[in-house]
Amino acid sequence: MFDNPFRIYNEMREADPVYWCEPLQGWMISRYADCVTALRDGARFSAARMAHLVAAQAPDVKPDDMPFSFRLNTLGIIFQDGSAHVRLRSHANRAFTPRALEAYQALVRDTVDQLVTDALARGSMDYQKDFAEPLPAIIIARIFGVPVQDRHRFKQWTEDLTLFFSQGVSDRAGAQRAEAGARDFGAYLQDLIDKRRREPGEDMLSYLIEGESEGRITAEELVVQAVMLIAAGHITTLDMLGTGMLALLENPAELRRVQESPELLPNAIEELLRFQSPVQIMHRLVAEDVEMGGQRMRKGQLAYINFAAANRDPRVFSEPDRLDVGRANAKQHLAFGGGAHYCVGANLSRMEAERAFGELFRRMPGLRISAEPVWRRHGLVYRGLASLPISW
Ligand code: HEM
Repeated sequence: MFDNPFRIYNEMREADPVYWCEPLQGWMISRYADCVTALRDGARFSAARMAHLVAAQAPDVKPDDMPFSFRLNTLGIIFQDGSAHVRLRSHANRAFTPRALEAYQALVRDTVDQLVTDALARGSMDYQKDFAEPLPAIIIARIFGVPVQDRHRFKQWTEDLTLFFSQGVSDRAGAQRAEAGARDFGAYLQDLIDKRRREPGEDMLSYLIEGESEGRITAEELVVQAVMLIAAGHITTLDMLGTGMLALLENPAELRRVQESPELLPNAIEELLRFQSPVQIMHRLVAEDVEMGGQRMRKGQLAYINFAAANRDPRVFSEPDRLDVGRANAKQHLAFGGGAHYCVGANLSRMEAERAFGELFRRMPGLRISAEPVWRRHGLVYRGLASLPISW
């Protein structure tokens, strides 16, 4: 299931495109057109789903059992609708203006260069652990002015926090873990924010703090926004770098096309996002009764938008289970979502992938898998590798 969920998703999409999933207590939407409808219709598919998610996925857990993480998620951009969402989004977007992205180019280039140089010097690498994981963590830490040596700590907090909401079904132990992760991550960032208030720097945290002094965001929202951006900024990208590389190594003819024609790389990255869907599924709350796919979804129920299934819908992508780095409409994928909650960091992760793959293929032309890859064994939302040993 973890190494290949697509067979099940394909069956679901063709046989039961809006499917009541009992263990998840919600509707699984898996055709491309229906997913786009749900993503674009914030009035009927609300992002404010926290209480329902906890009730459906962990019936033994009450919001009071996890006050900090419950509040963090309720206030966070990903879980907001309407004007509150627009306000948080314009604040978050300050980190991703074209000017800011241009400034990140050199940072991405130097970080990739260093990681490749280190691997060449060592002579071997577990690509997942030694490259795909550190790259986005170092980049997001540098952008936000978070000490890079703390990256293992914020990765762990992020995993603890997100696992509860992303694994589908959870329990009290999962809630306690999420609560501890949220509390520790929040306290850590609160400390940094307090320091930056006293001594602003050239980093994104200092820049976001300006939004607070201008009255556009509260002190509490500021911590939440920083947690969400730092968390979302690395756990997703490391899966994209890992699963994307694996797909190319498993399809040597496609890898050769990219190596021989590097100008194909930007399109290849879109195709890898389509093919692997690092964020496989996202949830919404049905805010009004909706008819879809011959089913009636009731107000108050959960809906799961299955990006992974939609990205392999043959109504949109011909021969969808085939990796084709030259696919003309690869960019139509939903790997970054769509509508009001479309990923704010999409262009940053594209930039990281382009630089990373470009350099690796250039400096390690004989790149190949050297031992069996290992998939992580949990999660409904995030799909990725634990290990990918390579040689060159
Ligand atoms: C390959 C890497 C990435 C993937 C696959 C990805 C995927 C997604 C998806 C599917 C959504 C939509 C969620 C929904 O509709 O509920 C989303 C939203 C978001 N992403 Fe990403 N993301 C990636 C990288 C990043 C990066 C690098 C950052 C930040 C530095 C980031 C920050 C966010 C934020 C803050 C949102 C919420 C936007 C909103 O609610 O308005 N993501 N992402």
